[in-house]
Amino acid sequence: MKITCYSCLIAIVLSLSTAATAVEPIRVVLEFVPDIDNGRRSFDICARCHLPEAWGNYDGTYPQLAGQHVNVLMKQLLDIRSGRRVNPSMQPFVQERTIGGYQNISDVVAYISTLPMNPAHRRGPWPPESAEYREGSELYSRHCASCHGPDGEGNNELSYPRLQGQHYSYMSRQARLVRNNMRQVKPSMAALLVALSAEEFDKVLNYVSYLPVPQADLAPSTAWRNPDFQ
Ligand code: HEC
Ligand code: HEC
Repeated sequence: MKITCYSCLIAIVLSLSTAATAVEPIRVVLEFVPDIDNGRRSFDICARCHLPEAWGNYDGTYPQLAGQHVNVLMKQLLDIRSGRRVNPSMQPFVQERTIGGYQNISDVVAYISTLPMNPAHRRGPWPPESAEYREGSELYSRHCASCHGPDGEGNNELSYPRLQGQHYSYMSRQARLVRNNMRQVKPSMAALLVALSAEEFDKVLNYVSYLPVPQADLAPSTAWRNPDFQ
C-alpha cells in the first residue's frame, strides 16, 4: 500500500507561507510506503480512547476512525498536532516526540485503514419513515452532497471526510463547533451551516447519520473484536 500525503503537502505549504517572502507552490506530492506493524504498535495509545476497533463510542466523545479516508485522517492528525484543530486531550499524543514524524503518522493511518467499521453506529432520532428524515435528505442533496458525495462517501483526494458510519452525536457536535466558529473547515461549508435554521441543521445531521455504509466495509457483527489487541 502507498499513502499519498496531500495533507502533508498542505501543512508544508502553510508553514512556508508564514515566511516573509511569497512562496512558489510546491508541485510534489509526498508518498510513503507505510509500515503496518509499526502503525499497529503506535495505535496502542490511540486505542485507549478510540477503542481497539477504532469504533469510537456511542455518545460521540470519541469519533469512529475505522473507514475514514487516509488523507482525512492525516489532515486531522496534523491539524490536531499543530493546534489548528483544538483537541487538548489528544494533542500530547500526536506530537513529534510522542508519535514521531510523517512516516510514523502514515504508518498509524495505514493501520487504521485495515480495520472494519462498526456495524451499529449511533443514529439520530428520526428514522427513514419520518418527514424530518425526508426533509434532511433534500437538504443533504442540495447543500452537502457536492463535497461529501451523494452517499456520504467523502473524497480521499480532496480530503473531504466520509460521513457514512460516523456517530450522530459526534457529527452534530462537530457541526455545532463549525457553526460557532470553533472548528475551521472550508469557509463555504461553515457559511452553509450558519445559514441553516436550527430545525434544518438537526434534520440534515439526522439524515447523514442514516447514510448506509457498504456491507463490505463493516465488521461481521458488533461482537467483533480487534484480534491485534486481544
Ligand atoms: C486521550 C484520548 C485520545 C487519544 C489517546 C487519541 N485521541 Fe484521537 N481524538 C480524541 C477526541 C476526544 C477526538 C474528538 C475531538 C473533537 O471532538 O473535536 C479525537 C479525534 C481524532 C481524529 C479526528 C477524526 C475525525 O473524524 O475528524 C483522528 C483522526 C484521531 N483522533 C486519531 C487519533 C490517533 C491516530 C491517535 C493515536 C496516535 C489518537 N487519536 C489518540 C481523543 C483521543
Ligand atoms: C465545500 C465543501 C463542503 C460542503 C458543501 C460541506 N462540507 Fe462538511 N466538510 C468539508 C470538509 C473539507 C470537512 C473537513 C474539514 C477539516 O479538514 O477539518 C468537513 C467536515 C464535516 C464534518 C465533520 C466530519 C468529521 O469527521 O469530523 C461534518 C459532520 C460535516 N462536514 C457535515 C456537513 C454537512 C451536514 C454539510 C451540508 C449542510 C456539509 N458538511 C457541507 C467540506 C464540505
